[in-house]
Amino acid sequence: MWVKMLEINIIDSFSDNYIYLIRNEAKNITCVIDPGESTPVIKFLKSKGWDLDEIVNTHHHHDHIGGNAELLEIYNSKLIAPIYDKSRISNIDILVSDNDLINIAGTKTRVIHTPGHTLGHVCFYMSDEKCLFSGDTLFYLGCGRVFEGTMDQMWSSLIKLRSLPNDTLIYCGHEYTSSNAKFAKHIDPNNQLLEQAIIEIQNKRKSGLPTIPFELGKEKFINPFLRADDQNLIDNISLKKNTPNEIFSAIRSNKDNF
Ligand SMILES: [Fe+2]
Repeated sequence: MWVKMLEINIIDSFSDNYIYLIRNEAKNITCVIDPGESTPVIKFLKSKGWDLDEIVNTHHHHDHIGGNAELLEIYNSKLIAPIYDKSRISNIDILVSDNDLINIAGTKTRVIHTPGHTLGHVCFYMSDEKCLFSGDTLFYLGCGRVFEGTMDQMWSSLIKLRSLPNDTLIYCGHEYTSSNAKFAKHIDPNNQLLEQAIIEIQNKRKSGLPTIPFELGKEKFINPFLRADDQNLIDNISLKKNTPNEIFSAIRSNKDNF
């Protein structure tokens, strides 16, 4: 029987960021993913009596790394971050790049380089735990804005993530789900699976709960940004484009102006 080793705690940060505090009780290891600020992390650690062993960053944006310095001052943690951001993130102990196999929270983790939102962005995939930390690349029903990379790079990055197993649970960097849902419904109004997902999302938000994590298998049918090569979606939308890359770019641009 498959048993999860990790406890993944979701910490609210700023207006809509999520920080993930991962605990491996068996190995007595605690790790934080994307601490945009230190205060809620320190508070959580103190409440549990845990030390902080590892700090992990997906990309260089301040709302994902802003707590690094203070946490490093207080705890004897190792900072793990993408090699591509080595000039933009300070005090990195372990530089990681595409396809590296490393240990995070005592668990085998694969680094997946996903340029697009930023050029150096990486995601962290834990196959034994069936989970992915997707930062600002893949959101529930959405994807990150393309700030530094090209639309083609972002589409390629999303295809990489889409190839992971269907039962992968995704932990992304922001609670953008409700606004993503509005756009997804706008361009794909007859999708019954999407409709069901939106009802679940609304119920969670009404109860003040995060919509995270979400399952990749379902996402392949309801997230328009993963479906630029899906004829069912293409037939539904009036974007007269030819290639998946062009369709992805048009969908992303539409969302930017939605
Ligand atoms: Fe970002």
